[in-house]
Amino acid sequence: MENVPQSRRTFIASLTALFCSALLLRRYLTPRKAAGGKALASVAKTEIPAQGALVFREARVALMRSGDDIYALSLVCTHLGCTVNVAPDGLSCPCHGSRFDRRGMVTQGPADRPLRRMRVEEREGMIEVTAV
Ligand code: FES
Repeated sequence: MENVPQSRRTFIASLTALFCSALLLRRYLTPRKAAGGKALASVAKTEIPAQGALVFREARVALMRSGDDIYALSLVCTHLGCTVNVAPDGLSCPCHGSRFDRRGMVTQGPADRPLRRMRVEEREGMIEVTAV
């Protein structure tokens, strides 16, 4: 077997390449954490009015209740991004007049997509809303 001379520089370059490859492999093989883990709002379940909504204006989220069903809607209009207003009969955008029902479905354009649903989790009587 032929003995191949290896300089210190070649050895360090090989080691660096191996290290970088390992970092890249780790990045692509490691599962990502749940997307958007940032909590947008947190409230006691009992504070959400029946057939009503709690609006978190700063987070641009509304926590809605319909019977036992609790869900959260983004208040970012799907037309051009204005903040929609919540009313007893639905949601409306002050910018160009789009309207949405309480489920976030478009009832009047120009918006052509429903409002985004946010993730809702219940823990020990608290409802937590996170971005999906
Ligand atoms: S931004 Fe809401 S209707 Fe245009």
